[in-house]
Amino acid sequence: KDLKPIKEAYQNDFLIGNIASAEDLSGVKLDLLKHHHNVITAENAMKPDATQPTKGNFTWSDQLVDSALAQGLSVHGHVLVWHQQTPAWMNTASGSPLGREEALANMRTHIKTVMEHYGDRLISWDVVNEAMNDNPSNPSDWKAALRKSDWYNAIGEDYVEQAFLAAREVLDAHPEWDIKLYYNDYNDDNQNKAQAIYSMVKELNEKYAQTHPGKRLVDGIGMQAHYSVNTNPNNVKLSLEKFISLGVEVSITELDIQAGSDGVLTEEQAIDQAYLYAQLFQLYHEHADHIARVTFWGLTDATSWRSANNPLLFDKNLQAKPAYYGVIDPA
Ligand code: XIL
Repeated sequence: KDLKPIKEAYQNDFLIGNIASAEDLSGVKLDLLKHHHNVITAENAMKPDATQPTKGNFTWSDQLVDSALAQGLSVHGHVLVWHQQTPAWMNTASGSPLGREEALANMRTHIKTVMEHYGDRLISWDVVNEAMNDNPSNPSDWKAALRKSDWYNAIGEDYVEQAFLAAREVLDAHPEWDIKLYYNDYNDDNQNKAQAIYSMVKELNEKYAQTHPGKRLVDGIGMQAHYSVNTNPNNVKLSLEKFISLGVEVSITELDIQAGSDGVLTEEQAIDQAYLYAQLFQLYHEHADHIARVTFWGLTDATSWRSANNPLLFDKNLQAKPAYYGVIDPA
């Protein structure tokens, strides 16, 4: 409580986010969440398997969204199109890919229904998540670098473009909404993968601008930033600057840094982790004009999806780790 709020340290730079479920929005968790952050992402609740488990039957996270807004927290939408946590019916039948038209219709209906439902209660959406292979060998050929996912197999190599066109159509029908459309991916520090993402977004935006002068199809690139103490911050810098050079905004969407194992973090590992957090925040600060949001993927090491590797700023007892101080005072 007496700690300096992270959101205050970066109030002139970008939003500071974390993940939240509806249960997190009360008690001591809400205190910690609100003290340091001004935007949330649902860790799982807005993924396709949670939102439309069976065709035409939607489950909404209105309680999460509305309590966040009532607490003064903005909400980012995660995620509309992904190869994981997606119900099989959307793009396959008995394990085989659906035909293009049927899969496309399912994808478009999902995007439209979900975006229309949440409307401008959200500030941005991850429209497509993790479409690229890791470390593609020929990254300028981004189509060849696409993951051969169920969506890819059913729709083909334009499925990313089709997803963004569907999302853009929704926004065009509601010009009063201010919502940014993101492409989001991990291993963003890998230069081959970053190049493939760069090439894809460049081509999609250039193509769209031919028929919609001055407009973009993809507004932003999300760098998930699931790192480890061995991540080279110079690679992060190269990727960040590459994405910024496209003229899109960038957000750091799922930041955590693995250190130690089995829930054990030595003093030395804690310092290494703090140092990398500090280097990253220095980098983010230097590029703050182009960064909309930096979101951590969890509040404490106890509840992290990678809790064995102690990746966050607060320990299992909600105490600030050296990593917190690295973020607060990176210089
Ligand atoms: C993770 C959640 O944290 C886990 O609870 C869940 O079991 C699996 O998904 N990339 C993403 C996130 O875009 O949605 C993932 O979240 C982590 C990797």
